[in-house]
Amino acid sequence: MPQNKAWTLASHPTGWVKEENFKLVTSAAPQPAGGEVLVKNLWLSLDPYMRGRIGTAKSYAKGVSVGEVMVGQTVGEVVESRHPQLKPGDKVLTQLGWQLFGVTQEAIKIDERGAPLSYYLGILGMPGLTAFFGLQEIGQPKPGETVVVSAASGAVGSVVGQLAKIAGCRAVGIAGGREKCDYVTRELGFDACIDYKAEKDLRGAVERACPKGVDVYFDNVGGEILDTLLARMNLFGRVVVCGLISNYNATEPYRLQNLMAVLVNRLKVQGMIVFDWKDRYGEGLAALAGHLARGRLKYRESVVQGLENAPRGLIDLLQGKNFGKQLVKL
Ligand SMILES: NC(=O)c1ccc[n+]([C@@H]2O[C@H](COP(=O)([O-])OP(=O)(O)OC[C@H]3O[C@@H](n4cnc5c(N)ncnc54)[C@H](OP(=O)(O)O)[C@@H]3O)[C@@H](O)[C@H]2O)c1
Repeated sequence: MPQNKAWTLASHPTGWVKEENFKLVTSAAPQPAGGEVLVKNLWLSLDPYMRGRIGTAKSYAKGVSVGEVMVGQTVGEVVESRHPQLKPGDKVLTQLGWQLFGVTQEAIKIDERGAPLSYYLGILGMPGLTAFFGLQEIGQPKPGETVVVSAASGAVGSVVGQLAKIAGCRAVGIAGGREKCDYVTRELGFDACIDYKAEKDLRGAVERACPKGVDVYFDNVGGEILDTLLARMNLFGRVVVCGLISNYNATEPYRLQNLMAVLVNRLKVQGMIVFDWKDRYGEGLAALAGHLARGRLKYRESVVQGLENAPRGLIDLLQGKNFGKQLVKL
């Protein structure tokens, strides 16, 4: 029987996550019961939402308790099956968390001929779908409009800006550092990118990059960047509140100054949680796969090697050290 290794939660972090908040435990791999498969995980996705799951504040999904295996989406290979539709060797998308092996009834078979397996955790998975439905359904971009997205070089942001270009919009990114901004404009084809870490006058930079104002702001970060963008929105603009990563490790929440702009400009500000579109994932995935196949979407990954380094990978992601979709190769 293979040996399993799993990261469990050792304590709920206060402020920034630390490696001590996790504990690596070893045990025998579990046996599949009727209807289940035993899966050897190959890839683990690290995502900003994990900070919410290990905190103590109320969130939209159940949190991880101390002693439980860390949550996370995984791609793996079936090694033993008591599931009617799956056989050993099948590649599957699962929610088995930070561990080498796991058993589950809920495994979605994926096709490795269509795309590299890791893509099902990124551009052809939850982050890609977040970008697709958030922009299309809440942002509702129209040709000629200006779309701004923060965390623009990341898993969600990079897709949002490229989809905005496909929709005929001006796409402006906000990202931390010259290298990320160069990638966003030169590789991904955005019209402009603001390096918020170097820029002393963020408001002025937004004005220069968006001479006709902003029609859609896809917010991945919250805080001062959201506040600045609110003041630059056009009449009847749309703000997609997708993530507030600048707040996730903060002990004091940022307090918005520019809420008046919502009233004055009749903005639509809507929170977005990707699960709300689960009945339409097929439509989103077909569109993303089509763009990818036609070379209209580019994609980049940031890979940490080995389960042992998963906590470090999450900490780096939350600090913006990732450059592209953050994954762990198991
Ligand atoms: N609502 C949903 O259903 C849903 C689904 C998926 C993701 N999300 C949210 O979408 C956002 C992006 O997620 P992702 O998976 O695509 O991650 P990502 O963008 O690949 O990585 C996170 C990025 O956030 C940026 N960041 C970190 N701290 C920041 C700060 N204080 N201020 C500004 N930027 C900061 C960093 O980029 P820079 O170096 O450019 O700062 C970092 O690389 C997150 O907020 C996440 O929670 C929401």
